[in-house]
Amino acid sequence: MKKIDLKSYLTTNFIGRSIEYHESISSTNTRAKEVAESVDEGTVVIAEEQTMGKGRLGRNWTSPKGKGLWFSLVLKPGLEVERLPKITLIGAAAVYKALRGMGIKSHIKWPNDIVIDGKKVCGILTEMIFKNKNTYYVIVGIGINVNLDKKDFTEELKNKATSLKLVKGQKIDRIRLLAHVLNNFEKLYIPFKERGDISEAIKISRENSILTGREVKIIRASEEKVGKVLDIDNEGQLVVKYKDGKIEAIFSGEVSIRGMEGYLDN
Ligand code: BTN
Repeated sequence: MKKIDLKSYLTTNFIGRSIEYHESISSTNTRAKEVAESVDEGTVVIAEEQTMGKGRLGRNWTSPKGKGLWFSLVLKPGLEVERLPKITLIGAAAVYKALRGMGIKSHIKWPNDIVIDGKKVCGILTEMIFKNKNTYYVIVGIGINVNLDKKDFTEELKNKATSLKLVKGQKIDRIRLLAHVLNNFEKLYIPFKERGDISEAIKISRENSILTGREVKIIRASEEKVGKVLDIDNEGQLVVKYKDGKIEAIFSGEVSIRGMEGYLDN
């Protein structure tokens, strides 16, 4: 992975202007949390391989060497803590736009997955780290299955996940894609940081949502409920109508949304 190439594609002011590169690391999110305090906002921790890549809800994230984009962004937004989980929507919208810019059509599975042909190609894990009551950093970890081959997926994953290479039938330039993601991320992040405005990311998520109109299972701790997704509202919440007619707006948090058929069972 060449830094020089990345710089030539970047149009950002601060996102991706500082890069910490690793051949192999346990998890870029873990590392980003360790260095968050001492690095500039927008620093990217990236690795060719993760030996203990982390997914949401305590899952593992398969991150084979040289085949994907496994990276974490260090952000210092200085906004009220309650607003921060919404940053995940910026990540998803940025990846969606980056793929679009490279001629790849995908969908967003609210709040933080990107899917193509019903299979996952990207996941996002947003974590917060508190230094004290008023000082915190946000780590946005993005994993994109770029050039993985069939053999790189376990039997279980084969039905649920795919890579851009498998979809397109050709290798994708990882550096160009990374630059596109970072460029789009900054564009969506600046209005959020400056005035809490996340409307563009929400619009992108709404217009390209794979869940809208579908029956899904909403899974929380021990409770499972079936409902139909109506929309993503202006706050970025998923609006679901349950069988009993009750309507709920779900704020990302620790819910798992499962499709009733095929994949979409993150
Ligand atoms: C998910 O869909 O469950 C989230 C997956 C997030 C994976 C990325 S890869 C880079 C960063 N480092 C990690 O350990 N996880 C995130």
